[in-house]
Amino acid sequence: MSNYSIKHFEEYFQVYRKSIRDPELFWEEIAEEHFVWRKRWNSVLKWDFKKPEIKWFGGAQLNITENCIDRHLRTKGDKTAIIFEPNNPNEEALHISYKELHDRVTRMSNVLKDKGVKKGDRVCIYLPMIPELAVALLACARIGAIHSVVFAGFSSTALSSRINDSECKVIITSDGSYRGSKTIDLKGIVDDALEKCPCVETALVVKRINSEITMKKGRDLWLQPLLDQAIPHCEPEIMEAEDPLFILYTSGSTGKPKGMVHSTAGYMIYSAYTFKNIFNYKDPDVYWCTADIGWITGHSYIVYGPLANGATTLMFEGVPSYPDFGRFWEIVEKHKVNQLYTAPTAIRALAKENISFIENHDLSSLKVLGSVGEPINEEAWHWYNDNVGKKKSPIVDTWWQTETGGIMISPIPYCTPTKPTYATLPFPGIQPALMDEHGVEIKGNQVDGRLCIKFPWPSIARTIWGDHQRYKETYFTAYKDMYFTGDGALRDEVGYYRITGRVDDVIIVSGHNLGTAPIEDSINEHPAVAESAIVGFPHDVKGNALYGFVTLKETGESRVHENLRKEINQIITEHIGPIAKLDKIQFVTGLPKTRSGKIMRRILRKIAGNDINNLGDTSTLLNPEVVDDIIKGAL
Ligand code: PRX
Repeated sequence: MSNYSIKHFEEYFQVYRKSIRDPELFWEEIAEEHFVWRKRWNSVLKWDFKKPEIKWFGGAQLNITENCIDRHLRTKGDKTAIIFEPNNPNEEALHISYKELHDRVTRMSNVLKDKGVKKGDRVCIYLPMIPELAVALLACARIGAIHSVVFAGFSSTALSSRINDSECKVIITSDGSYRGSKTIDLKGIVDDALEKCPCVETALVVKRINSEITMKKGRDLWLQPLLDQAIPHCEPEIMEAEDPLFILYTSGSTGKPKGMVHSTAGYMIYSAYTFKNIFNYKDPDVYWCTADIGWITGHSYIVYGPLANGATTLMFEGVPSYPDFGRFWEIVEKHKVNQLYTAPTAIRALAKENISFIENHDLSSLKVLGSVGEPINEEAWHWYNDNVGKKKSPIVDTWWQTETGGIMISPIPYCTPTKPTYATLPFPGIQPALMDEHGVEIKGNQVDGRLCIKFPWPSIARTIWGDHQRYKETYFTAYKDMYFTGDGALRDEVGYYRITGRVDDVIIVSGHNLGTAPIEDSINEHPAVAESAIVGFPHDVKGNALYGFVTLKETGESRVHENLRKEINQIITEHIGPIAKLDKIQFVTGLPKTRSGKIMRRILRKIAGNDINNLGDTSTLLNPEVVDDIIKGAL
């Protein structure tokens, strides 16, 4: 018997030990008892972190949509699969049953097929948080196409580079999106992007905001009339366990974004199993994750994990501040939400507002509160616990990454005693290790180091699209035979983990992973800019904000600095998106460099964080004189 649902702390340890003692047996039992397969596997796991090559359930065949939709139809056909809560609270919420979801997904599958999309083809999805977004993912999965969702806040340049990297044949988008009181011209962004994307043959357009847009003949088609004509039946494509299910881009510390490739079977099993336990989901609970499906959190814990468990998952189109800061609490009350999964940045933003926004709503339905995306600070943890959970809903601080596909370290609610700011213990199957700078594992408790994982788990990303070498170098070379997370962590006296943050040049701003290199590259395109360096500094809502140190080409630059600042942020918005805008831009005469010419970010980080008393030894710099100037001009 597998331990699909863990009920108490002692049982967690039993299950955990079993998952380490015999991982193959452990995952095989779960796969056997909780999923439907077209063909059984020949071997549970084959792996080699040196190559690296990881294969789970080799030889098995399945379709993930049979697991997420079809198998629920007989017993749960009329159960709500997706609740759609629109941006405008006066627009009616939709309740899409599993039967209706099947109807929508099969129709969309047929539309894609009709446009020539076949197994293995890539489809880009650039949509707001509307039902068509979830349906589009599932329709791709139904026909074996690989979806590549691009968060609909990314700019046209970011979109086109992602489309071209994986050579998407079709894009699914909308005329526009609502964001609070504003509308965003998504189709205009897509039109700009597609100028540079010869691989895209068809753009399918959802009508959402009824704006006037241009439709390019021979390329652009309104989706709804095609869905209306399509038949609501589509045999699922039979997929191999290791066939790619999707690509999702994440920032790297250098260069272009990495298209992380996730597999079908392993991803399905891990997202479903973690969802069931970490959110303690029981029928007929209503579960709400506030993330956007454009991020991994939305893939695993709005779409695949919940649906594989036959759950009701809520999709919210809007923002926490519209029409006012009570919106989240209004939604919890309206839909009697049982599990709420959100990010520290949202918690901190809401905590700043008047407490009456919360007090006016009945939050008694809540049973589990989740946090994800960045370390949750103590103050935010307590505010969430006291005011939202009323000290009776456990907080699950879930640590994981785009690359891991599912939650790796987290409490199991009503089971693991929680501790503020600690993600606590590894999930069954996960073997964390803390490493020192010499590549030696630090054993025992009350230690800190760099967080690695020693053994594969089913949903680890299998490669970077088109660049296996980069996959190897980024994750498997720093520490021998280990997956390196890029995070630092400490382990307390009882073995609980606390994630302390990135140890590379990735900065987490409002829960979004931003690489410094792509931002610097875009700033450097400004004709007046010679060089730039971006670092993070603490921010009370965003967790971190971005601080740019910029040198200009000509001294005596005639434009006022305020205008240059605006132009620099404009360039960043165009190249990446508004999420990467800099909060502070300081013009400096030089950047501190080592003798080999490398920018000393450590010093800049301290200056940006106003921690100038222990800058360390600056005398070995190539240009120590710039440091004082930078300190004097710090913003
Ligand atoms: O630094 C960690 C931080 O977010 C990074 C992964 O970002 P991304 O791939 O965008 O995925 C975010 C959603 C899973 C990690 O390397 N991070 C994520 N969750 C936590 C966290 N840091 C601390 N505590 C967390 N709970």
